Amino acid sequence: MSAGRRGAFFVFEGCDRSGKTTQSRLLAEFFKSKGIPTLSMIFPERESSIGQVINSYLTNSKDLPDEVIHLMFAANRWEYMNKIQKELLAGTTLIVDRYSYSGVAYTVAKGLDYDWCYAPERGLIKPDAVFYLNTAPDNLSSRGKYGEERYEKLEFQHKVAEVYNRICERESSYWHEIDASQPVAELHTRISGIAEKLQQQVKGKPLDKLK
Ligand code: TYD
Repeated sequence: MSAGRRGAFFVFEGCDRSGKTTQSRLLAEFFKSKGIPTLSMIFPERESSIGQVINSYLTNSKDLPDEVIHLMFAANRWEYMNKIQKELLAGTTLIVDRYSYSGVAYTVAKGLDYDWCYAPERGLIKPDAVFYLNTAPDNLSSRGKYGEERYEKLEFQHKVAEVYNRICERESSYWHEIDASQPVAELHTRISGIAEKLQQQVKGKPLDKLK
């Protein structure tokens, strides 16, 4: 890849068990099969010391005030910002499972103020596209492993979906709402079609920030 040609930044969002992980893996394989340098990431990134605190919170072995865990999720993204910027500028396309929007959706669903929740996300690198895998949470609870982690309760997921729908309206210029109840292969065809075009289009564009 020639100098100055950056990679694309794609994010997957949606409720727990919405199929983000499968679709992000398929999209990464798609780009790799085309010889495009690709890196997959997942937030929370549970390896760092902040990530380990988040992990023990999510697996219910640690309790923290809602504000504190919210800021830790945001800090977990900030601690990987240099790496994300470096990779994108070096021409690597990034496929990220959950980002700032998860931060906002899950904490607003607990009843905290939207603007307060969004504030620590400002200044993070803005994705070129967000694929929002949307379906009624009732359809998701029958999928494997639902209920093991802190947030995997149906009533809470309904609230999360409501916030996501609000964000989706607000950020419609780069959000792509995808009906997650469709078969895996169909979803992938739709998503990879959009992503492939964008990957070409953003090459010469500067990175943007969340405002
Ligand atoms: P994850 O392990 O990616 O869950 P899943 O495999 O179901 O997508 O994320 C763990 C949980 O953390 C998930 O319920 C969403 C929540 N979360 C937040 O509350 N705030 C955040 O900023 C992020 C990234 C995730």
